[in-house]
Amino acid sequence: EKKILRDLPEGRIKVLALVDSTNQYLLDNIETLRSGDACVAEHQTAGRGRRGREWVSPFGQNLYLSMFWRLEKGTAAAVGLSLVIGIVITQVLRNLGGIDIRVKWPNDLYYRDKKLAGVLVELLGKKFKPAQVIIGMGININNPSSNKGIEQNWSHLKEAGITIDRNKLTALLLSELRSQLIEFEKTGLSTFISKWHELDNYLNRPVKLIVGDQQIQGIARGIDQHGGLLLETEGGIKTYQVGDISLRGR
Ligand code: BTN
Repeated sequence: EKKILRDLPEGRIKVLALVDSTNQYLLDNIETLRSGDACVAEHQTAGRGRRGREWVSPFGQNLYLSMFWRLEKGTAAAVGLSLVIGIVITQVLRNLGGIDIRVKWPNDLYYRDKKLAGVLVELLGKKFKPAQVIIGMGININNPSSNKGIEQNWSHLKEAGITIDRNKLTALLLSELRSQLIEFEKTGLSTFISKWHELDNYLNRPVKLIVGDQQIQGIARGIDQHGGLLLETEGGIKTYQVGDISLRGR
């Protein structure tokens, strides 16, 4: 019983009406945090997206949630971490009835080719020394908010078939993330790869990958054992570590 208690930290939740960014809030308080601690806000004035983009965060309509985690084995053991987080959130939402929700490499959630949620994982620390991770997620609940900077279609939980109280959703997400991260720390990405392929929005579809000012066209072939994107082009299958993927012709 003792082991179970140690393995599943309870976690504390800071609930804020207004904050610059829930990720930033955890970062500012990082010295005081334990694995599983979280912060949630009604409204963010400087919500952050991946690759320096802004995450538009209007009041009261969406979920802005961040959770802290300490990786005992250091950043070297974080390979594939962001994909695992995308998988976990997707599974939680599918269990609530959102059966068509899928993952988009590396960690966004899509519903019928429209963006439903974004995940921003910030990793701090040294290769083989305990490291710290801040996992932030923005989930559209009942309005499609828009992330300035990229033109795209947006979806929200209601459209995906889910109506759930935000507090309950937060509790489910946190508890599932905590237990799956413990699993991930033991096994790494390997046990999650087949799950990824089951949930992958782009598997075997024609896509384009934008890396900097380069655009690469190909067929998405899932991920490799390190979580890299596999893209089949005329030259064969290559792995990519960064970039923005989208369907060709959109
Ligand atoms: C993306 O799709 O680019 C990732 C968006 C992540 C947004 C969430 S909202 C809660 C947390 N706090 C932030 O400032 N960003 C993340």
